Amino acid sequence: MLEVFSLEDIAVALRAQRCPADHAFDRFLPEELRAVSAEHWTPLHVAVRAAGWLEEFDIHSVVDVGAGVGKFCVIGALAGRCRFVGFEQRGWLVDAARTLAQAFRVGERVAFVHGALGEVPSPLGEAYYFFNPFGENLYFDGHIDDDVELGDERYVRDVDAAQELLRYAPVGTYALTYNGFGGTIPAGYRQVRVDRTLACELCLWRKTSLGARDMAQIEPQRPAPVHDQPCPPVDALRLLHESA
Ligand SMILES: C[S@@+](CC[C@H](N)C(=O)[O-])C[C@H]1O[C@@H](n2cnc3c(N)ncnc32)[C@H](O)[C@@H]1O
Repeated sequence: MLEVFSLEDIAVALRAQRCPADHAFDRFLPEELRAVSAEHWTPLHVAVRAAGWLEEFDIHSVVDVGAGVGKFCVIGALAGRCRFVGFEQRGWLVDAARTLAQAFRVGERVAFVHGALGEVPSPLGEAYYFFNPFGENLYFDGHIDDDVELGDERYVRDVDAAQELLRYAPVGTYALTYNGFGGTIPAGYRQVRVDRTLACELCLWRKTSLGARDMAQIEPQRPAPVHDQPCPPVDALRLLHESA
Protein backbone atom coordinates (compact mmCIF):
# COMPACT_ATOMS: atom_id res chain seq x y z
CA MET A 1 0.00 0.00 0.00
CA LEU A 2 1.23 3.52 -0.81
CA GLU A 3 2.15 5.60 2.22
CA VAL A 4 0.08 8.79 2.44
CA PHE A 5 2.00 11.95 3.32
CA SER A 6 0.39 15.23 4.27
CA LEU A 7 1.42 18.43 2.57
CA GLU A 8 3.24 19.41 5.77
CA ASP A 9 5.11 16.04 5.88
CA ILE A 10 6.37 16.66 2.36
CA ALA A 11 7.44 20.23 3.11
CA VAL A 12 9.30 19.12 6.26
CA ALA A 13 11.05 16.27 4.41
CA LEU A 14 12.16 18.52 1.55
CA ARG A 15 13.43 21.22 3.94
CA ALA A 16 15.57 18.48 5.53
CA GLN A 17 16.84 17.44 2.05
CA ARG A 18 14.90 14.18 2.24
CA CYS A 19 13.03 13.18 -0.85
CA PRO A 20 9.51 11.72 -0.73
CA ALA A 21 8.24 9.75 -3.74
CA ASP A 22 6.81 11.70 -6.66
CA HIS A 23 3.32 10.28 -6.20
CA ALA A 24 3.26 11.73 -2.67
CA PHE A 25 3.88 15.23 -4.03
CA ASP A 26 1.79 14.81 -7.17
CA ARG A 27 -1.29 14.12 -5.04
CA PHE A 28 -1.46 17.90 -4.56
CA LEU A 29 -1.64 18.60 -8.30
CA PRO A 30 -4.97 18.82 -10.16
CA GLU A 31 -5.86 15.33 -11.42
CA GLU A 32 -5.23 15.96 -15.14
CA LEU A 33 -1.78 17.39 -14.32
CA ARG A 34 -0.94 14.50 -12.01
CA ALA A 35 -1.53 12.11 -14.89
CA VAL A 36 1.15 13.77 -17.06
CA SER A 37 3.66 14.33 -14.26
CA ALA A 38 6.13 11.56 -15.13
CA GLU A 39 6.40 12.88 -18.66
CA HIS A 40 6.31 16.64 -18.21
CA TRP A 41 7.36 17.72 -14.68
CA THR A 42 10.78 17.47 -13.02
CA PRO A 43 11.03 14.44 -10.67
CA LEU A 44 11.50 15.30 -6.99
CA HIS A 45 14.96 13.80 -6.61
CA VAL A 46 16.17 15.81 -9.62
CA ALA A 47 14.80 19.07 -8.21
CA VAL A 48 16.38 18.30 -4.82
CA ARG A 49 19.74 17.57 -6.47
CA ALA A 50 19.50 20.85 -8.39
CA ALA A 51 18.56 22.73 -5.20
CA GLY A 52 21.77 21.40 -3.61
CA TRP A 53 23.83 22.85 -6.46
CA LEU A 54 22.01 26.21 -6.23
CA GLU A 55 23.01 26.37 -2.54
CA GLU A 56 26.55 25.20 -3.25
CA PHE A 57 27.09 27.94 -5.88
CA ASP A 58 25.25 30.56 -3.82
CA ILE A 59 22.72 31.21 -6.59
CA HIS A 60 19.87 33.39 -5.37
CA SER A 61 17.40 33.49 -8.25
CA VAL A 62 16.31 31.02 -10.91
CA VAL A 63 13.97 31.44 -13.87
CA ASP A 64 12.32 28.16 -14.85
CA VAL A 65 11.80 28.59 -18.60
CA GLY A 66 8.59 26.67 -19.25
CA ALA A 67 7.51 26.19 -15.64
CA GLY A 68 4.45 24.03 -16.26
CA VAL A 69 2.54 23.42 -13.04
CA GLY A 70 5.43 24.87 -10.99
CA LYS A 71 6.69 21.58 -9.57
CA PHE A 72 10.39 22.41 -9.98
CA CYS A 73 9.99 25.94 -8.53
CA VAL A 74 8.00 24.80 -5.50
CA ILE A 75 10.29 21.86 -4.66
CA GLY A 76 13.36 24.03 -5.18
CA ALA A 77 12.00 26.67 -2.81
CA LEU A 78 11.22 24.03 -0.16
CA ALA A 79 14.64 22.36 -0.49
CA GLY A 80 16.71 25.57 -0.51
CA ARG A 81 16.78 29.34 -0.02
CA CYS A 82 16.67 30.46 -3.65
CA ARG A 83 13.93 32.58 -5.27
CA PHE A 84 12.16 31.17 -8.34
CA VAL A 85 10.26 32.73 -11.19
CA GLY A 86 8.37 30.32 -13.39
CA PHE A 87 7.90 31.57 -16.97
CA GLU A 88 5.05 29.69 -18.63
CA GLN A 89 3.14 30.11 -21.88
CA ARG A 90 -0.13 28.45 -20.79
CA GLY A 91 -2.34 30.62 -18.57
CA TRP A 92 -4.17 27.71 -16.97
CA LEU A 93 -0.84 26.15 -15.91
CA VAL A 94 0.23 29.49 -14.41
CA ASP A 95 -2.99 29.50 -12.35
CA ALA A 96 -2.36 25.91 -11.20
CA ALA A 97 1.28 26.76 -10.36
CA ARG A 98 0.24 29.76 -8.24
CA THR A 99 -2.23 27.56 -6.36
CA LEU A 100 0.49 24.94 -5.74
CA ALA A 101 2.94 27.57 -4.42
CA GLN A 102 0.27 28.94 -2.07
CA ALA A 103 -0.62 25.44 -0.83
CA PHE A 104 3.04 24.81 0.08
CA ARG A 105 3.38 28.34 1.51
CA VAL A 106 6.35 29.33 -0.63
CA GLY A 107 4.59 32.27 -2.29
CA GLU A 108 7.13 34.75 -0.89
CA ARG A 109 9.95 33.16 -2.90
CA VAL A 110 8.07 31.75 -5.88
CA ALA A 111 6.28 33.76 -8.57
CA PHE A 112 4.93 32.90 -12.00
CA VAL A 113 4.86 34.99 -15.15
CA HIS A 114 2.47 34.19 -17.98
CA GLY A 115 4.19 34.52 -21.37
CA ALA A 116 6.13 32.75 -24.06
CA LEU A 117 9.88 32.90 -24.43
CA GLY A 118 10.63 34.56 -27.77
CA GLU A 119 7.40 36.59 -27.66
CA VAL A 120 7.80 38.57 -24.45
CA PRO A 121 11.03 39.42 -22.58
CA SER A 122 12.08 36.71 -20.18
CA PRO A 123 12.18 37.51 -16.46
CA LEU A 124 15.80 37.93 -15.35
CA GLY A 125 17.58 35.53 -13.05
CA GLU A 126 21.04 34.52 -11.96
CA ALA A 127 20.23 31.10 -13.40
CA TYR A 128 17.90 29.76 -16.10
CA TYR A 129 16.48 26.25 -15.80
CA PHE A 130 15.35 24.22 -18.79
CA PHE A 131 13.72 20.80 -18.56
CA ASN A 132 13.40 20.04 -22.23
CA PRO A 133 10.71 22.72 -22.50
CA PHE A 134 10.30 22.64 -26.28
CA GLY A 135 10.29 18.84 -26.77
CA GLU A 136 6.50 18.85 -26.88
CA ASN A 137 6.77 20.42 -30.34
CA LEU A 138 8.48 17.30 -31.66
CA TYR A 139 6.65 14.53 -29.78
CA PHE A 140 3.13 15.60 -30.56
CA ASP A 141 1.58 12.43 -29.04
CA GLY A 142 2.33 13.59 -25.50
CA HIS A 143 1.35 17.24 -25.92
CA ILE A 144 -0.33 19.00 -23.00
CA ASP A 145 -3.17 20.72 -24.93
CA ASP A 146 -3.99 22.29 -28.30
CA ASP A 147 -4.10 25.87 -27.00
CA VAL A 148 -0.62 26.91 -28.17
CA GLU A 149 1.24 26.72 -31.47
CA LEU A 150 3.21 23.46 -31.68
CA GLY A 151 5.41 22.01 -34.42
CA ASP A 152 8.80 22.07 -36.06
CA GLU A 153 8.82 25.80 -36.83
CA ARG A 154 7.89 26.73 -33.28
CA TYR A 155 10.58 24.38 -31.99
CA VAL A 156 13.31 26.05 -34.02
CA ARG A 157 12.16 29.54 -32.94
CA ASP A 158 12.02 28.55 -29.26
CA VAL A 159 15.42 26.87 -29.26
CA ASP A 160 16.89 29.98 -30.94
CA ALA A 161 15.23 32.22 -28.35
CA ALA A 162 16.71 30.13 -25.51
CA GLN A 163 20.17 30.33 -27.05
CA GLU A 164 19.80 34.12 -27.46
CA LEU A 165 18.72 34.45 -23.84
CA LEU A 166 21.86 32.67 -22.67
CA ARG A 167 24.09 34.38 -25.22
CA TYR A 168 23.19 37.89 -24.03
CA ALA A 169 23.09 37.02 -20.33
CA PRO A 170 25.80 38.70 -18.27
CA VAL A 171 28.98 36.90 -17.27
CA GLY A 172 28.26 35.02 -14.04
CA THR A 173 24.88 33.71 -15.28
CA TYR A 174 24.15 30.00 -14.81
CA ALA A 175 22.25 27.61 -17.09
CA LEU A 176 20.78 24.50 -15.48
CA THR A 177 19.51 21.84 -17.86
CA TYR A 178 17.73 18.53 -17.33
CA ASN A 179 17.59 16.60 -20.60
CA GLY A 180 18.78 19.77 -22.36
CA PHE A 181 16.69 22.27 -24.29
CA GLY A 182 17.36 21.15 -27.86
CA GLY A 183 20.11 23.66 -28.59
CA THR A 184 23.72 24.12 -27.62
CA ILE A 185 24.95 26.11 -24.66
CA PRO A 186 26.61 29.20 -26.19
CA ALA A 187 30.36 29.84 -26.10
CA GLY A 188 31.58 31.39 -22.88
CA TYR A 189 29.81 28.89 -20.57
CA ARG A 190 31.75 26.27 -18.64
CA GLN A 191 30.16 23.12 -17.23
CA VAL A 192 30.60 23.21 -13.46
CA ARG A 193 28.47 20.24 -12.40
CA VAL A 194 26.98 17.20 -14.13
CA ASP A 195 24.98 14.24 -12.82
CA ARG A 196 24.68 11.27 -15.17
CA THR A 197 23.16 8.92 -12.59
CA LEU A 198 19.64 10.32 -13.13
CA ALA A 199 17.18 9.23 -15.83
CA CYS A 200 18.37 12.22 -17.91
CA GLU A 201 21.53 14.29 -17.61
CA LEU A 202 21.42 17.22 -15.17
CA CYS A 203 24.01 19.90 -15.94
CA LEU A 204 24.98 23.22 -14.45
CA TRP A 205 26.91 25.71 -16.59
CA ARG A 206 28.41 29.04 -15.60
CA LYS A 207 29.10 31.87 -18.00
CA THR A 208 32.71 32.74 -17.39
CA SER A 209 33.50 34.89 -20.42
CA LEU A 210 31.87 36.59 -23.37
CA GLY A 211 31.49 34.38 -26.43
CA ALA A 212 32.83 35.68 -29.75
CA ARG A 213 29.29 36.48 -31.00
CA ASP A 214 28.55 38.53 -27.87
CA MET A 215 31.54 40.68 -28.69
CA ALA A 216 30.41 41.06 -32.30
CA GLN A 217 26.94 42.13 -31.13
CA ILE A 218 28.16 44.86 -28.80
CA GLU A 219 30.73 46.22 -31.27
CA PRO A 220 28.26 48.63 -32.96
CA GLN A 221 27.44 50.17 -29.58
CA ARG A 222 30.96 51.53 -29.22
CA PRO A 223 31.31 55.25 -29.80
CA ALA A 224 33.27 56.15 -32.95
CA PRO A 225 36.14 55.87 -33.56
CA VAL A 226 35.98 52.22 -32.59
CA HIS A 227 39.71 51.51 -32.82
CA ASP A 228 41.75 51.25 -29.66
CA GLN A 229 38.69 51.45 -27.43
CA PRO A 230 38.63 49.09 -24.46
CA CYS A 231 36.07 46.33 -24.46
CA PRO A 232 32.68 47.73 -23.27
CA PRO A 233 31.97 46.93 -19.65
CA VAL A 234 29.77 44.00 -18.71
CA ASP A 235 27.00 46.52 -17.94
CA ALA A 236 26.66 47.12 -21.66
CA LEU A 237 25.82 43.48 -22.07
CA ARG A 238 23.41 43.64 -19.19
CA LEU A 239 21.57 46.46 -20.96
CA LEU A 240 21.42 44.41 -24.12
CA HIS A 241 20.10 41.51 -22.08
CA GLU A 242 17.43 43.66 -20.41
CA SER A 243 16.22 45.18 -23.64
CA ALA A 244 16.16 41.84 -25.46
C1 LIG B 1 8.59 19.65 -19.89
S1 LIG B 1 7.54 20.90 -19.16
C2 LIG B 1 8.60 21.38 -17.80
C3 LIG B 1 7.86 21.99 -16.63
C4 LIG B 1 8.71 22.45 -15.45
N1 LIG B 1 9.88 23.18 -15.88
C5 LIG B 1 9.15 21.29 -14.61
O1 LIG B 1 10.29 20.89 -14.80
O2 LIG B 1 8.40 20.76 -13.80
C6 LIG B 1 7.73 22.23 -20.35
C7 LIG B 1 6.79 23.44 -20.15
O3 LIG B 1 7.32 24.48 -20.97
C8 LIG B 1 6.25 25.26 -21.47
N2 LIG B 1 6.75 25.96 -22.65
C9 LIG B 1 7.11 25.43 -23.84
N3 LIG B 1 7.56 26.38 -24.68
C10 LIG B 1 7.51 27.56 -23.99
C11 LIG B 1 7.84 28.91 -24.30
N4 LIG B 1 8.35 29.25 -25.49
N5 LIG B 1 7.65 29.87 -23.37
C12 LIG B 1 7.13 29.55 -22.15
N6 LIG B 1 6.78 28.29 -21.81
C13 LIG B 1 6.97 27.30 -22.70
C14 LIG B 1 5.16 24.23 -21.74
O4 LIG B 1 3.87 24.84 -21.79
C15 LIG B 1 5.35 23.26 -20.57
O5 LIG B 1 4.50 23.62 -19.51
